Amino acid sequence: MTDIERTEANEAQIAVHWKEEQYFEPAQEFIDQALMRDPTMRERFGEKNFPDCFREYADILTWFKPYETVLDASNPPFWKWFTGGKLNASYNCVDRHLDEHRNKGALIFVSEPEDEVPYVMTYQELYHRVNEMAALLQGECGLKAGDRVTLHLPMTLDLPITMLACARLGVIHSQVFGGFSGSACADRIKDSGSHHLITIDAYWRSGKLIDHKANADIAVKVAEELGQKVDKVLIWQRYPGKYSSPTPRVDGRDVFINDLLKQYRGRRVAPVPMDAEAPLFLMYSSGTTGKPKGCQHRTGGYLAYVAATSKYVQDIHPTDTYWCMADIGWITGHSYIVYGPLAIAATSVIYEGTPTYPDMNRPWRIAEQLGVNIFHTSPTAIRALRRLGPDAPIHGPQHFKHMTTVGEPIEPKAWRWYYEQVGKSKAVICDTWWQTENGGFLCSTLPALDKMKPGSAGPALPGIYPVIFDDEGHEIPKGSGRAGNMCIRNPWPGIIQTIWGDDQRFVDTYYRRFCKNPNSRDWRDWPYVSGDGAMDAPDGYFRILGRIDDVINVSGHRLGTKEIDSACLTVPEVSEAAVVPVHDEIKGTVPEVYVSVPSGTKDPDAVARRVVKACEDIIGKIARPEKVYVVPDMPKTRSGKIMRRVLASISNRRDVGDVTSLANPEIVETIRIEVQGK
Ligand code: WTA
Repeated sequence: MTDIERTEANEAQIAVHWKEEQYFEPAQEFIDQALMRDPTMRERFGEKNFPDCFREYADILTWFKPYETVLDASNPPFWKWFTGGKLNASYNCVDRHLDEHRNKGALIFVSEPEDEVPYVMTYQELYHRVNEMAALLQGECGLKAGDRVTLHLPMTLDLPITMLACARLGVIHSQVFGGFSGSACADRIKDSGSHHLITIDAYWRSGKLIDHKANADIAVKVAEELGQKVDKVLIWQRYPGKYSSPTPRVDGRDVFINDLLKQYRGRRVAPVPMDAEAPLFLMYSSGTTGKPKGCQHRTGGYLAYVAATSKYVQDIHPTDTYWCMADIGWITGHSYIVYGPLAIAATSVIYEGTPTYPDMNRPWRIAEQLGVNIFHTSPTAIRALRRLGPDAPIHGPQHFKHMTTVGEPIEPKAWRWYYEQVGKSKAVICDTWWQTENGGFLCSTLPALDKMKPGSAGPALPGIYPVIFDDEGHEIPKGSGRAGNMCIRNPWPGIIQTIWGDDQRFVDTYYRRFCKNPNSRDWRDWPYVSGDGAMDAPDGYFRILGRIDDVINVSGHRLGTKEIDSACLTVPEVSEAAVVPVHDEIKGTVPEVYVSVPSGTKDPDAVARRVVKACEDIIGKIARPEKVYVVPDMPKTRSGKIMRRVLASISNRRDVGDVTSLANPEIVETIRIEVQGK
């Protein structure tokens, strides 16, 4: 990336968004019941108590063997947390709650079709199911601690059951977002070295029963072409006992989980005591260049961090009904639908379908029906729901005490609507900033202790020490309000261990840039580089400006531009492709694609359609470009680099700036006219 692009990104965002906002106080009613009301918490987590302060988080868990060392930082940046300790995530999320909460709802499943009654799965029932599934994974697949298994599942109870069954055995699960294509799944199967794929026949989405099994066939085929043989495909049935997919079963390879489970009924599998540092799961995250990164999360540190932040940031009590509307296929779902809430005996809601199906009021009906009092969603969803009538109050009967937002910056206008209309000016809001790599929240207000400020993610959470560097690596003074590269100086328990199979890429991506001395054994020299731009206001609240590099954040989902470009390039007529982020009222950011074709290419509309299809097939519907512009050439630097910045300016109706130094400045006006008209 050139400096000019980096500056552009910063300046554009600061100029558009930055204005100091007034504070909002949490309601007294909320404060009176909050789990964290102790104003000394930040002091307890002060730097002089680092890293021992994190014992408080580890103590929330049940350990089979106590840990000896809180942080082993002897080999930066490969931190080790709670070493010597042994625990099991499945035991912590299920077994240990049985005494007190046996017949309390652990998970409540809401089908998309409204005539299907929500299913409350108690902790007792979850315990049975997880044990039986673990026995099946052992018995049918011979899976054992350290093996990887790929899950390609939508939002049904089968997903958390499978995750917890894997965790029980120490098997590393790698769940691929259900909306991703078979071929995206194949890349992740290959990278993780999985020999088993766990999928489902079908699921509901926007009123359609989607054939998901077809994706498994593509995934297995493509994985095999990539050199990774999948021995078995295990298929859940959306309606147990019935096969809901038109795609035939492959003999000898495909098995129905519901059939097999009959042989394992009532079976118990002892939770395997795992080292605190044993990997719990992989979560693939889009990188700036090509290949997705297998973010490898550890068992002890991760679970301690998500349990503690679920408790103190989201204020989830066992008596609450908590609904996070994200997908478990993303890190938010892993941390804040499954592991965090279940570790603290919450009741966590899983909704199968599209939030706006069959209409915009569906979420409020679900909230009312289940008595949800803690709600967690993204700015994209908030904007979409707000579209119903930005000024008309919503007539939801919901009574939230707490609401979380995550995934992208939320503009103050949408924040206020969320606060006033959805939260009825009573619910506290936590705007939580973090990343797949981070395990859990890094910046957010503590809901009973800090005032809220619309548009700001709030101060760093206890034990988290952000620093902002300018591009030359100088620390930007705290509270200066200047933007720069958001970094975290101290390690914390939720950070990934490494990128699966690629330690070098881990170091290069997250620690190389501002490392003071690569030979240093002192963690102070190894700040974590988030890749986000941010500014620190005088009150210590961080305003996140989005990615400094070129990842496109669509509806809170990160998509690598290079991944999208390369999908477009699979269309034979396309010579060059560049995707750009375009501001959108509802979704925040949407991708628009520019492709260049050789002169004389017939039927550009057909090319555009094929580009859309390629993005959907190779990456998934989420990457579907809003628009495809077929152009005769791309604006390029003299060294031949496509100037994405210029294209982004055209798409966003911004001034393209000085283009005279380009190799082909005349093309800019041609493209501008094509996109914007004369
Ligand atoms: C962005 C999602 C502003 C940010 C948990 C980050 C945010 C990327 C916020 C990570 C927030 C996330 N305010 N921006 N509250 N939360 N982001 O890995 O750019 O899917 O780097 O993790 O989303 O996305 P990821």
